[in-house]
Amino acid sequence: MRARGVVQPPGDKSISHRVLMMAALARGKSELAGLLTGADVKSSARVLRQLGADIGSIRESAVQVSGARLTAPGARLDCGNSGTTARLMLGILAGQKFTATLTGDASLRRRPMRRVTEPLKQMGANITERGDGLPLTIRGGKLRGLTYTSPVASAQVKSALLFAGLTGRVPVTIREPYRSRDHTERLFAHLGLEIHERDGAIAYEPSGHSNIPPFQLAVPGDPSSAAFLVAAAVLADSGELVIENVGVNPTRVGFLVVLERMGAHVERVNLRDAGGEPVADLLVRPAHLRGTEVTAAEIPTLVDEVPVLAVLASRARGGTVFRDVGELRVKESNRLELVAANLRAVGAQAEARGNDLHVEGSDKPPRGRVATASDHRLAMAFAVLGTVAGASVRLSEKQSVAISYPDFFRDLKRCFA
Ligand code: S3P
Repeated sequence: MRARGVVQPPGDKSISHRVLMMAALARGKSELAGLLTGADVKSSARVLRQLGADIGSIRESAVQVSGARLTAPGARLDCGNSGTTARLMLGILAGQKFTATLTGDASLRRRPMRRVTEPLKQMGANITERGDGLPLTIRGGKLRGLTYTSPVASAQVKSALLFAGLTGRVPVTIREPYRSRDHTERLFAHLGLEIHERDGAIAYEPSGHSNIPPFQLAVPGDPSSAAFLVAAAVLADSGELVIENVGVNPTRVGFLVVLERMGAHVERVNLRDAGGEPVADLLVRPAHLRGTEVTAAEIPTLVDEVPVLAVLASRARGGTVFRDVGELRVKESNRLELVAANLRAVGAQAEARGNDLHVEGSDKPPRGRVATASDHRLAMAFAVLGTVAGASVRLSEKQSVAISYPDFFRDLKRCFA
């Protein structure tokens, strides 16, 4: 395969959810550009509309959002496949004086929610749940402040609590074992909301008037989507690829750090700022990779890139180990087991041992059928593996890419001939 051309990844999924939610809470008209048009962001928009927000149709070009006081929904709030919608909305609903029931698709209903509902209950939210998952019913209202040490490094937990502090107008201080993506903190700071980092903890301290101003913001391209294009360009035989307008927030681009260690250098050019987030264009060339160890501390900075990094590791010289990736079991699918099983299905050696993922490199052409379990990142990671010379990788489905990268197959085809 030869890499060629210039491509722009879709809008950042994490940031798109956050700016939509924030704009829905603001008093007045906000204007958002560059939003991800994927199904997950549409889930957030749908839920916010059910709560009374006026949100135009989700487009990349521009979306207007008129925020207002949120009101009780007439029906269940269906978060679809989106864990970010469910968990961040729980935080927002904790500060509202009405009752709402959240649910989601079969994958989302299997995902743990107690990591969010436990601290929200400590803040005073009333939550009725059957087990550790959706559906569940929340009645928010008067909250008390919280100082909390999260057992998991999860931006969704951290963000839910910050949104609860914001809507409930109470102080919140959060510690996490490793720093997770900080988009919520950056957005709060960008909008002049009182957020600080103190002794490694994140603290939100509302002043008397914590009204959210309406805002205009351009969402950068998603580094997690760009990662698939980067990976395909690294595996290519020749050529180069330019990926424009990619978010390079350090809490998100651990995969670039690991790639560098594996022997691929991705150049960042034209560094700039967009709405409080660092953005760059990436220049990627093919490289010979060597195996590496990815440490537990690095995992939060590349948590969604483990499937595609594992695919790259299967093409490297030597072995790679990803330490402490147990969290992958509770993503859109059991990614820890499925990455390993699917690598084996195409003839590579990979294994989950306890909470570690081990992958052996090889230059044998990958051939076989991959079960994506309708997980967008598994589908895209193994589609990338299918681009190497002599490969024959069949995916059980392709539609799941619509969750985070609707034009993925078009872009892949266009950039790799
Ligand atoms: C996200 C946080 C991560 C990530 C997910 C998006 C976010 O999840 O895997 O795709 O937008 O906050 P966790 O908070 O569960 O680690």
